[in-house]
Amino acid sequence: MNNGARTWKPKKHSNPIFMSLSFLIVFFIFFVFYQEISTFILPHSTISISSQFPQCAVKSVEKFLWYAPHSGFSNQLSEFKNAILMAAILNRTLIVPPVLDHHAVALGSCPKFRVLDPNEIRLKVWDHVIDLVSEGRYVSMARIIDLSSVASLVQTIDFRRFVSQWCGVDLNSICSTDSSIQRSSLNNLRKCGSLLSGFQGNVDKCLHAVNVDCRTKVWTYQENALDGALDSFQPDEQLKMKKKFSYVRYRQDVYKNLGPGSEAHLSTVLAFGSLFSSQYKGSQLYIDIDIKKLPRNHEMQSLFGKIEFMPFVPDIIEAGKEFVQKNIGAPFLCTQLRLLDGQFKSHWKPTFSVLKQKVEVVKKGSSHPIHIFVMTDLPRSNWSSCYLGELANKTSSFKLHVLSDGEELVKRTAAKVGAAYDGSKDSHCPHQLPNVLLFVEETVCSCASLGFVGTAGSTIAENIELMRKNNVCVDNYEIGV
Ligand SMILES: *[C@@H]1O[C@H](CO)[C@@H](O)[C@H](O)[C@H]1NC(C)=O
Ligand SMILES: *[C@@H]1O[C@H](CO)[C@@H](O)[C@H](O)[C@H]1NC(C)=O
Ligand SMILES: *[C@@H]1O[C@H](CO)[C@@H](O)[C@H](O)[C@H]1NC(C)=O
Repeated sequence: MNNGARTWKPKKHSNPIFMSLSFLIVFFIFFVFYQEISTFILPHSTISISSQFPQCAVKSVEKFLWYAPHSGFSNQLSEFKNAILMAAILNRTLIVPPVLDHHAVALGSCPKFRVLDPNEIRLKVWDHVIDLVSEGRYVSMARIIDLSSVASLVQTIDFRRFVSQWCGVDLNSICSTDSSIQRSSLNNLRKCGSLLSGFQGNVDKCLHAVNVDCRTKVWTYQENALDGALDSFQPDEQLKMKKKFSYVRYRQDVYKNLGPGSEAHLSTVLAFGSLFSSQYKGSQLYIDIDIKKLPRNHEMQSLFGKIEFMPFVPDIIEAGKEFVQKNIGAPFLCTQLRLLDGQFKSHWKPTFSVLKQKVEVVKKGSSHPIHIFVMTDLPRSNWSSCYLGELANKTSSFKLHVLSDGEELVKRTAAKVGAAYDGSKDSHCPHQLPNVLLFVEETVCSCASLGFVGTAGSTIAENIELMRKNNVCVDNYEIGV
């Protein structure tokens, strides 16, 4: 520790005032750069790590799992489900993240082998979450998705509670009116975020940051195929040449590699990067756990069944049903038209032709006017330029219904969902209502007894189909034909 001071030898000046001044300067420099010097001299010392990160000195029986959610809501939900699976397999408490803003954090493309490194994406998520807190827009995933069905199979903890325990920082203090409290909390948070994201490397028994991603890894569980086998999807030669890389994708058992007996198992916190996975060229891109390959009667089978469909919280479901009962009050058709976003801009024709066909069929068998609930990103003022304008004009044949953020029902639901988290009652952070419109609209569509016409390829449409299949709306509120 004293190396710097001991090797320093004054050569020319022996004036005692100059000496002590110089000594002070050296001492000052040493003090300012202490962190850098100590990590340079003792790169893997647990002593320096635990003095830097007090949370690593605390022994915890409970073990946690963190990951980096990203992209749009549907993507965040599918990652959340994978996280529940991983937490159950590894017997770790899942740290439940908030809902991130649409595409505030993006992963990149797994098939193109161009993705953010796990450390980078974890840090981006961390920074965004801190923004959500300070802007009063934090809404836990658990306030949107009902976790009661999996509560007996996996432990969870709110991200804010975890941060207050592990980082020793109350997230509300970042909005403190006392600027020194605010500064010190932000400083501690920054350190903790950097640790959790894996920038200090893996810290013995404290943090294991998984630093592999879909470019090189496919996680499996209890597959008969050998752990460590090559995956069937690999970068092709053309891509390798063009991008000058040589990734090889291996399949590995998540339990064998990160569970009991592994180094990762010893750490209090296990941090994944993205947990996004999807089917591509006959292979799953990152996580390939197949329910059919699991032994029967396994606890995991029951969990699989439950995470396949996870409903919205009762507040949202009730709001959707209330709108159906009070505002529509008759059998209706629902259409979800995604017209302005990305790939959907060029698909107006097929989207409307499917709707038109369906409307013609319904027209024959129902009394008039026909009620249609419309959820679309196309502003009302633009409807006249498309089929929606035609429907809206024929008021004797059709009655169109829409929901908007301004609707009292939507505001009331947002207030319930965004109600203060018990730890933040005395927060100085501003408080904003969360955006719940999409979730209420999806619920309304799941109640449409005359049928549903969605936009092909939209994850929103997929979720509505899933809700309909699982009879979210079936009970006294459903209005039959
Ligand atoms: C799972 O972890 C808890 C601690 O959080 C521990 O008490 C329990 O024994 C573990 N279960 C198994 C099967 O290892
Ligand atoms: C919607 O209408 C506005 C003006 O009324 C127009 O500028 C805009 O291009 C329209 N958008 C679409 C997608 O038709
Ligand atoms: C609907 O009616 C309005 C006037 O009421 C008219 O300007 C518009 O062109 C009509 N749109 C269609 C698609 O018929």
